[in-house]
Amino acid sequence: MFFEDEEEYCAEDDRLVKSTKGGYDTEENVLRPRTLDAYVGQAKVKDNLKVFMNAAKARGEVLEHVLLYGAPGLGKTTLAHIIASEMGGQLKITSAPAIERSGDLAAILTNLNDGDVLFIDEVHRLNHSVEEILYSAMEDYALDIIVGKGPSARNIRFSLKKFTLIGATTRAGMIANPLRDRFGIICRLEMYTPAELKEIVSRSARTLGIEIDDGAAEEISRRSRGTPRIANRLLKRVRDFSTVNDSPSVTLEDAKFALSKLEIDELGLDEIDRALLRAMIEKFDGRPVGLETLAATINEDAGTIEDVYEPYLLQLGFISRTPRGRMILRGGYEHLGYTMTKKQREQLSLFDKSED
Ligand SMILES: Nc1ncnc2c1ncn2[C@@H]1O[C@H](COP(=O)(O)OP(=O)(O)OP(=O)(O)O)[C@@H](O)[C@H]1O
Ligand SMILES: [Mg+2]
Repeated sequence: MFFEDEEEYCAEDDRLVKSTKGGYDTEENVLRPRTLDAYVGQAKVKDNLKVFMNAAKARGEVLEHVLLYGAPGLGKTTLAHIIASEMGGQLKITSAPAIERSGDLAAILTNLNDGDVLFIDEVHRLNHSVEEILYSAMEDYALDIIVGKGPSARNIRFSLKKFTLIGATTRAGMIANPLRDRFGIICRLEMYTPAELKEIVSRSARTLGIEIDDGAAEEISRRSRGTPRIANRLLKRVRDFSTVNDSPSVTLEDAKFALSKLEIDELGLDEIDRALLRAMIEKFDGRPVGLETLAATINEDAGTIEDVYEPYLLQLGFISRTPRGRMILRGGYEHLGYTMTKKQREQLSLFDKSED
C-alpha cells in the first residue's frame, strides 16, 4: 500500500468518509461486536465459518488458515477477534509492514501456543523472505532455518504449535498464489445493505449512550457507503452537532443538517468522490483514464482511490474499470447533474459495445 510509516498511517485516519485504518482507536474497539451472532450481515461468510469452526472443534483440531478480504472498514479485524474467541485461542495481532525480517516472523511464530490465532493485517505486503518462512509454517507447522554459510550451511527444522493464521487484505489480487493456496478458508466481505447498517448504527448508539431517532439512524445508514466503520464515524460526528445544538436526541433533521455540513450527499459521496467524477467528466471528457493519471489530477493517492473510493463508485455503477482505464458511466453524470455531450455519449456507447 502507500503509507511510509505507522504515524503517517494513523494521521490519515481523521478524514470522515475515508474509512482507512482505525483498528488502533479505542472507541472502535468498544464498538466491535464480540460474537458471531452480534456480527451483523455477511450471512454467507458467517454460515460457512460456523460450519468450519464447529467441525474443527468437533475433531479437536485447530481451524484452518483463513484469508479475509474486502474494502477497508468492512469488519476483517473484527471477524478475526471473533474467530479467535469462538475457537478459544489467544489472538496475536501484527501487520505485514511491521514484519521486516524473516527473524521477526520466526520470533512471533515460535511464541504461539496450540490454538492461538495469528492475525496478519495487510498480508499482501509481506516481503518475499518473510513470506517463504510462512509457507512451511502454514503447511507443516514447521520453521525452516538455514544455519551457517556456504558449503557448511545446514537446514534446521523446528516444529511449531498448531495455530491458525488469519490474513486480511484489501487487495486479494496482490497476494502471491503460493500464499493464497495455503489458506484453507477464503472469505470475501461484501458491502452492507442500508438495513444492516441501520442495525449497526442503532447498536453503536446504544453502546455509546446516544439517543437517536429511527429516521436519523436510517439517514446515516444510507450515506455510509456500505461500510460499518463509516456508519459509526458518521454517527459520532452527527452526535457532535446535536450536542452543540443542545438537542437531547439525534433527530432526522439533526442528521440531515450535520451530514450536509460534512458535505456528504444523499448517497454518501464526499468531496473527493465528486472531484473524481468531475475530473473524469471535465478533464477527460468521459474517456477512459488511467488510475495514476486520475490520482494526480485530483491530488490523491492512487492506492487510496483504489481501496477507498473506487469500490463504492463501482458498486453504484457510476464508474467502470475497463482495460483502457477508469470510465465514468451514465449514473455518474446524472448524479452530479451533468447532461452528457454528444462526444461523451459516443465514448459511452463505444464502451457499451466492448462490454457485449
Ligand atoms: N459486521 C459488523 N457488525 C457490526 N459492526 C461492525 C461489523 N463489521 C465492522 N463493524 C464495525 O466497523 C468497525 C471497523 O471494522 P474493522 O476494523 O473490523 O474493519 P477492517 O475490515 O478490519 O478494516 P481495515 O481494512 O481498515 O483494517 C469496527 O470497529 C466495528 O465497530
Ligand atoms: Mg482491520
